[in-house]
Amino acid sequence: MQTRFDNIFKQGGLLSKNYPDYESRPSQLSMANLIGQAIKEKKYAIIEGATGVGKSFSYLIPSILSGKSIVVSTSNKNLQDQLYKKDLPYLHDILEKDFSYAVLKGRANYFSFMMFEMNQKLIQKVLSNKEIEIIRNWAKKELAEKGMGEINDLPIDISYEAKILMTGSSYVKPEKDSPYCSIDFGEKAREKAKNSQVLLVNHTLLALNAAILLKSEGKAKIFPTPDILIVDEAHAFEHYAQLAFSDKLNKYSLKHFLRHALVKQLCTRKKTADIESNFVQTLHVNYTPPIINGYYKDTPYDNFKLKKYSDQLESCVKELKSAKEKMDELGQIQISVLIKEGKNLVERLKKISEKNKLGRR
Ligand SMILES: Nc1ncnc2c1ncn2[C@@H]1O[C@H](COP(=O)(O)OP(=O)(O)OP(=O)(O)O)[C@@H](O)[C@H]1O
Ligand SMILES: [Mg+2]
Repeated sequence: MQTRFDNIFKQGGLLSKNYPDYESRPSQLSMANLIGQAIKEKKYAIIEGATGVGKSFSYLIPSILSGKSIVVSTSNKNLQDQLYKKDLPYLHDILEKDFSYAVLKGRANYFSFMMFEMNQKLIQKVLSNKEIEIIRNWAKKELAEKGMGEINDLPIDISYEAKILMTGSSYVKPEKDSPYCSIDFGEKAREKAKNSQVLLVNHTLLALNAAILLKSEGKAKIFPTPDILIVDEAHAFEHYAQLAFSDKLNKYSLKHFLRHALVKQLCTRKKTADIESNFVQTLHVNYTPPIINGYYKDTPYDNFKLKKYSDQLESCVKELKSAKEKMDELGQIQISVLIKEGKNLVERLKKISEKNKLGRR
């Protein structure tokens, strides 16, 4: 039976026209047909295909041609970029049907003018004036040219410590009426995400969005609910879902706090170094637990150590609080954000510890 996708995938068809090494691959076509049918019948399709078959075209083409809104989730940011920078522009060029597309990542991936200004003095301690100037010019140019302002696109290499001083986070975002809101790259990405037919996210964001939707009973979300959801690299999704739906702490959220210039400056050095160097190894955070009979087996935490680290973090927060009183207005704002972040980490650690006690045999 000939389907509407034959003409696209066949040798000499639409896809092959600008594709030097194009070959007709029956499995690629049958996957596209299956997806086209699932969309038409509003059914789920679970598909496993060999590596390198060209699954991206197989799911993108029928979804785009359906005219419906689509969210594609991939397991990591590199795959997001491959789709955004290569596959989608190519399809946009060749398909007769026009469509819009966008990519969305977590706030920490985007340069933030608000953070950059707020943390200017701290930034001057870790970067040279020349470097700061390059970054400022790059950010202005990104804004003027409607670039995405992704921190990884900076024209120079800077340390993680410097990056966290000029990127967004879930703990601080510009108020709707602040002048920073309209020039915030994280906000812009979310806005664009709302208005595009195809939206590329990653599993972390998809799982977090699901967790937020559930918690808020459908009221809050990171991106709009699409007509079609495609989970690429779906074998990896369980891991991200587990992180989003549990109180597990991962090393990135700890690192984000502990490596902040003000935490380093104001909190007892030994304490923060101790948490950072020992936490991951001893508590196995951000560690995919072994799978037993198809289920994740939770890694047992050592409650004694959990208590030690949550106490240490808590006393870091106390140190920040007492330093706050002596700060000027700007310093107080900076510290408030950090206190919020630190408190959240302590809370999560305590929750893990409680559950851990209950789970003890
Ligand atoms: N019919 C085709 N002929 C030649 N090259 C193709 C064809 N279809 C896709 N490609 C190219 O093959 C490469 C792999 O495609 P894609 O990333 O979609 O594979 P995949 O099936 O998702 O593989 P993986 O399992 O590794 O994710 C891409 O560079 C793509 O442009
Ligand atoms: Mg793939």
